[in-house]
This record gives sequence, structure tokens and C-alpha cells, in this order.
Amino acid sequence: MTAPIIRTLEDLRALTAGWRLSGEAVGVVPTMGALHAGHLSLVEAAKSACDRVIVTIFVNPRQFNRLEDLKNYPRTEQEDAVKLAPFAVDVVYVPDPNQVYPDGFSTNVSLTGVTDVMEGPNRPGHFDGVATVVAKLFLQTGADKAFFGEKDYQQLMVVRHMARDLDIPVEVVGCPTVREPSGLAMSSRNLRLSEQGLLKAAVLFPTLQEAAAALSAGAGYESTIRQAQDRLIQSGFEKVEYLELHSAASLAALTRPSEPARLFAAAWVEGIRLIDNIPVARI
Ligand code: PAF
Repeated sequence: MTAPIIRTLEDLRALTAGWRLSGEAVGVVPTMGALHAGHLSLVEAAKSACDRVIVTIFVNPRQFNRLEDLKNYPRTEQEDAVKLAPFAVDVVYVPDPNQVYPDGFSTNVSLTGVTDVMEGPNRPGHFDGVATVVAKLFLQTGADKAFFGEKDYQQLMVVRHMARDLDIPVEVVGCPTVREPSGLAMSSRNLRLSEQGLLKAAVLFPTLQEAAAALSAGAGYESTIRQAQDRLIQSGFEKVEYLELHSAASLAALTRPSEPARLFAAAWVEGIRLIDNIPVARI
């Protein structure tokens, strides 16, 4: 038995109208499919907090700033439906592209501030695509709560700000990053790494941990970051796009964890771009 799939907004609205009439709390877990244990932990969180759970699967073309990435993104709808079956979610919404972007679609949801750092400048247009599609998914599902992983911490903040700014009545819930036994944060992109690549990629988490511990102990920012970058390159990463400390609340750049902070990284291994972040104990 696989979870039931709905492909049109009309069918989704017909289903959720009944839930709303009976006052049931609706949770949504937005995904682009290729589900892994990280996504399934969000589904579990939604199941325990809500009466009804919708999982959405939509590979959103607007958030890919590299055509290559969009083409290579794994599409595994049948396997995803099988993985969701044990969770007994109420519905999997897999909208046809014209249900999200009908002909003549001309709206763009664009934020400033939280998008000005890290993924923002490094992936032009990415957060416009995310904010636009997530706004649509919030409005289409009418969910009361939405569940996002902290692995994409900046995305979580973008979505939270967007919902607040647009008065969309949804609570955006952040859930902890799920990691492989090696420490590597779960990501659909890991599927594209070789065994060797996975070993190299696993160095990212301990590198962040070591640097975070050093910063919390009062070590200098420049030297700590340089050492962490060197360790990644020596371990086989081709490029470190950024490795930076930011405020957990505003995402403003910091050089010491004098307020709740997180250490963020984006780095390339075997031509795959990986991101991760961890909290840094306050000084
Ligand atoms: O994190 C993702 O999978 C996507 O960015 C999201 C939130 C489903 C929007 O397309």
C-alpha cells in the first residue's frame, strides 16, 4: 500500500475543506522528493503535532540557478510513495507543473535581509524560487503548521520571514538535521556521490564541530576559519564556497558567538555542492 496521491489543486481543496470544517489541524511537509530519513523525520514531527498531514513533492524549476542541477535532480515518485506508506500520511500532493505555475504566472516573492548572505549571493534567484513556491504551497494546502529541516537553516529563516511578512497563518516549525552514521547531513545530493566521495564529504561535520568548539573557546575567527577550510581541501573537497559564523536569529555575520550563533558551510566534493550548519555555544 502506498500513500494516496493528488495532482490538482481542485482535488486538494476538496479534500482539505472537510478537514477544516471539522477543525482538524493540518500539517504540511514540503519536499522535492527523493525522500530520505531527514524528510521522514519531518513527516514524523508533523504526524505527532497535527491531525492531518500533507506531504508535497514538487521539483521546483524556479529555485535552481543551474540548469544542470535541475536536470540531474533525482525524481523517484514511486519509491517516495512507498517510503511514506508506513507513516499513513493523509495525502501526497504532487502537483502538475501548471497547478503551481499556470500559463501567464508572473508573481515573484523576493526577500531582503535574510537572503543577503551565504546561499543568497552564491545562488542568485534561488530564494526567490523557494519563497514563491513555498508561499503557493502554504496557500494551496492551507496548512496550520509546516515542517522544515535545520540542514537548510537559511531556507527555514527565509520561509519563516516570508510567512510572517505576507500574513500567511502558518507556524513554521524547524526540525533537527538528521545525519548518516558518518555524521554527513542527509541530503538528496548525497545520492550522487561515490563511496570515496561520501568518505570525503563526511569530513565536513567534524570540521564544523572542531571550528565551533574553537570559536566557543575564544579562538580567533580568521585563523579558525582558515584552518577549517584547509582541512576540507586536504580531505578532498574541491572548493569551500563559504564557511562563516552567523547570528541564529538574524543571520547577520559574526566573528564571535556572543549571541546564539551557527557555523555554516557550503563546499564542493566530486562536483556536488553540499551545505551544512551547526549551533555554536555562546561565549
Ligand atoms: O527544501 C526543499 O526541498 C525545497 O527547497 C522546498 C522547501 C520543498 C521548496 O521547493
